[in-house]
Amino acid sequence: MWEKKPVILLILATAAILVGTCITMVLPFVWVNTEADRITSVTPYTPLQQDGRDVYIREGCNNCHSQTVRPLVAEVLRYGDYSKSGEFVYDRPFLWGSRRTGPDLARIGGKYPDAWHYKHMADPQSMVPRSNMPDYDFLTEAEIDPEYSRKKMETLGFPFTEAQISSLEGKTEMDAMVAYLQKLGSDIPWRQSAKTEVVGELANPSPKDKAAIRAGQLLYADNCAMCHAEDLTGDIGPALDEPYLDDADLFRLIHDGIEDGGMPSFAALGSARLWQLVNFINYRKQP
Ligand code: HEC
Ligand code: HEC
Repeated sequence: MWEKKPVILLILATAAILVGTCITMVLPFVWVNTEADRITSVTPYTPLQQDGRDVYIREGCNNCHSQTVRPLVAEVLRYGDYSKSGEFVYDRPFLWGSRRTGPDLARIGGKYPDAWHYKHMADPQSMVPRSNMPDYDFLTEAEIDPEYSRKKMETLGFPFTEAQISSLEGKTEMDAMVAYLQKLGSDIPWRQSAKTEVVGELANPSPKDKAAIRAGQLLYADNCAMCHAEDLTGDIGPALDEPYLDDADLFRLIHDGIEDGGMPSFAALGSARLWQLVNFINYRKQP
């Protein structure tokens, strides 16, 4: 019936589209960008971190890495707390992405010590043997130009200080990249809140057991060798070849990690595997 009255049809169709646009596009802007979304602990990038971000975009890291943890159980378990909109207020452009040839990097900050990143960026296979990530060794050869950072500040209105800009002297693009990676997702204190506690008495369920030692050896190669060396003589982390912690303390250390020391928490391995690691480290030399 209406299709025979073009003017009325036109008006109704336009109204329907406008209502749709308003609900799906205009209202979310009003709801999302409010003061309530601000997170006070989120700070702008320093000039060094911003340069790292620009190199990240130039090198196309975002073609293999996303930067957003979705609010799904599997993602939160793998990467950490899901991303909050207020964490991205200083990102222009956003690098959320959806393609994951490599893992998500939204919570990479603080996961590894700087030394791990330098080695991994220069030669990913040295840290993760089966990695298909390319080498970025050449970033150590390019120095950062403080004058260029000053121009960025003036053009884009970034809140850089003179002291920050002059500290760029002598820094390379690799330094900038590592500084940027360490900042990602670390503005909110999610690591503390995600911590689980070890409760109760800790007793090694199978001390000196051969099968447990063997299982621990495989776990060690997959999870620890990259930082403590294949033969336990130490590299990024200290040597572990002369055990000095008793079983319970060693369990606790591997479970909790060392905050700000660069030793990650391995609570996610579960206690059976953690005890196998303890058996490998403490009893592998026993007859
Ligand atoms: C061809 C795809 C590809 C490109 C391009 C790429 N990566 Fe990766 N990246 C990977 C893969 C696969 C892994 C997982 C294996 C590993 O750790 O090396 C990875 C791992 C990482 C990790 C460790 C993540 C973790 O949680 O252990 C970091 C950090 C990283 N990449 C940073 C970068 C940066 C910075 C760039 C750009 C300079 C980049 N990647 C470019 C594929 C890629
Ligand atoms: C990303 C690098 C990294 C990985 C992976 C890693 N560690 Fe560590 N680990 C460190 C660093 C760095 C320290 C020193 C931290 C400090 O003392 O502040 C450390 C310290 C330790 C210590 C204390 C040693 C001492 O002398 O104080 C033990 C024990 C340990 N790690 C065991 C392990 C085990 C077992 C694994 C594998 C499940 C592992 N680590 C994986 C980096 C790593």
